[in-house]
Amino acid sequence: MIVCVCRRVSDRDIARHVRAGMNFDDIQFELGVATQCGQCEGCARDVVAQCASGHAVATLHNENAVIQLAPSIRESKAWPTLSSSAA
Ligand code: FES
Repeated sequence: MIVCVCRRVSDRDIARHVRAGMNFDDIQFELGVATQCGQCEGCARDVVAQCASGHAVATLHNENAVIQLAPSIRESKAWPTLSSSAA
């Protein structure tokens, strides 16, 4: 899932950097996430927190790349879903 549209940063990009020992500020500097419009910051921080706590954020099931997001990410109000933004 793309977390930051402006910088094209995915949850997997963020997770990889957390596993490498980086915190949100490090990742923001490295990837540029949440450095333009800022709409993604809450979601990006949620992804970092989930990864840092050891909970899986996304699971790659097979070559079809079906991604399951952790419930706390799916239900995050930091990033509006299509259904909530269409109203
Ligand atoms: S969506 Fe991340 S800075 Fe705009």
